[in-house]
Amino acid sequence: MADSDAPLIQLRRIIKTFGEGPTAFQALKGVDLEIAAGDFIAVMGPSGSGKSTTMNILGCLDVPTSGEFLFKGVHVEKLERDQRALLRRKYLGFVFQGFNLLARTSALENVELPLLYRGDPKAQRREAAMAALDKVGLKNWWDHTPAELSGGQQQRVAIARAIVTNPDVLLADEPTGNLDSERSVEIMELLTDLNKNSGITVLMVTHEPDMAAFARTIIHFKDGLVERIETGHHQGERVE
Ligand SMILES: Nc1ncnc2c1ncn2[C@@H]1O[C@H](COP(=O)(O)OP(=O)(O)OP(=O)(O)O)[C@@H](O)[C@H]1O
Ligand SMILES: [Mg+2]
Repeated sequence: MADSDAPLIQLRRIIKTFGEGPTAFQALKGVDLEIAAGDFIAVMGPSGSGKSTTMNILGCLDVPTSGEFLFKGVHVEKLERDQRALLRRKYLGFVFQGFNLLARTSALENVELPLLYRGDPKAQRREAAMAALDKVGLKNWWDHTPAELSGGQQQRVAIARAIVTNPDVLLADEPTGNLDSERSVEIMELLTDLNKNSGITVLMVTHEPDMAAFARTIIHFKDGLVERIETGHHQGERVE
């Protein structure tokens, strides 16, 4: 189904309206965007500018009111709900603020969840989940529950869970929002490593210039539109 020459992701004139009638609110007013495979992107912009709305559309968690969303050349906006869910499971990984880990469940079982939903057999799940925990540096913590892990470690478990299915794209909405700056830098280094060494395209929302500094492309949102895109940003350089 995929067209290998197409950009990984294209958004064309994406409009998203919440509500109807006089109280309707246009959160996205015609977003145009192209995302190349292998990029590491930081999405920035004021509160309410449409960052999460865009991430939710890209993550197939929500649908645009109008406009086109192409993933590997496939028109996602024309897919049925279950086809979109398949695309999500096969190609996308999510890390959202607040971790969303199951509380009384070990790190290993948390990471296994997406594979359980997919119906992978137990032995295969264990192996893949341990490999993902190893990638995020938590192999020796597999049997700990979230309460027994630090905020940074919990976020690592959430990242392991997002990458256990080998996604093409990792979508992270404020992945360091709950962390102190030292832990935040560790998470950024981990995302950089996944981008460089596992070839995962990373798209992350952040309010913090220090975190955006890790990205190669920076997309600035304003009032429901892409205001400006900085390409070829040197990783580690200051972001204004
Ligand atoms: N489900 C919804 N129903 C109604 N309005 C919504 C809904 N989701 C978002 N909005 C509105 O759309 C606008 C954009 O919201 P969005 O969550 O995308 O902002 P954001 O850029 O992620 O902001 P923040 O930095 O605060 O997370 C906001 O004005 C918000 O109130
Ligand atoms: Mg948001």
